[in-house]
Amino acid sequence: MDSFTQLIRGTGSVAEVIAIYDEHCTTYEKMVCEKGKYKGPFILVEAVTKEVPECRRKEVRVLDVAAGTGMVGVALAQKGFTNLDALEPSEGMLECLRSKNVYTNTFHEYIGQGHTNVPQGCYDLVFAVGGMGYNHIPFTGVLEFVRFAKPGGLVMICMRHDEEDYLTKLKEYMNRLEEQQLWKKEFSTPIKDFLIGTEGVTPGRQKLCGVGGGLLVF
Ligand SMILES: C[S@@+](CC[C@H](N)C(=O)[O-])C[C@H]1O[C@@H](n2cnc3c(N)ncnc32)[C@H](O)[C@@H]1O
Repeated sequence: MDSFTQLIRGTGSVAEVIAIYDEHCTTYEKMVCEKGKYKGPFILVEAVTKEVPECRRKEVRVLDVAAGTGMVGVALAQKGFTNLDALEPSEGMLECLRSKNVYTNTFHEYIGQGHTNVPQGCYDLVFAVGGMGYNHIPFTGVLEFVRFAKPGGLVMICMRHDEEDYLTKLKEYMNRLEEQQLWKKEFSTPIKDFLIGTEGVTPGRQKLCGVGGGLLVF
């Protein structure tokens, strides 16, 4: 297990996790990307650019959940996305991502304690990369993702695959939301080398049920 993961897994509360991200915000990118170790953001960006054709990238409204230092936002901006918002609980990480000047609205919030102040039903695309897992967004947090998205919008999650207990509960919960017709599973893909030596997975690219304004059809 890499040292940053060890550090995070050694914590017992949300406050401790956020304090670690605060403390490491300026070195985070170097730490996780060193020697090409963490590929999550690049995998997500590749998937998003495949989903959204170039001609739609300016109009698609995107929410980056657990945005960290904004690596995904920067890469998406380079691909022509201009309507990006971010949610991030660590003040330090938030400062870093704001300095990148690619996000329009930034929300200092965390997922897991009731509703956030993020506007509901506004986003064509909601994603989280590296934000789901032990000591991070609880598996029930995906319901909040559903609330953020427009009817017909897309939710994408990109995460490590080695947290079996969490992943099992997440998949069961996702299935329950599907039974309630809140969303529909589109696909789940194994990811090679999400973090070098650690497989990843998109446990579900979900399309929200229902019709309404801003329906995004792929
Ligand atoms: C591994 S980093 C990923 C950051 C970024 N998405 C990336 O790929 O570089 C995980 C992020 O999740 C955030 N996080 C942790 N718990 C969270 C929660 N309950 N709600 C929202 N974000 C959370 C952390 O502050 C941290 O920035």
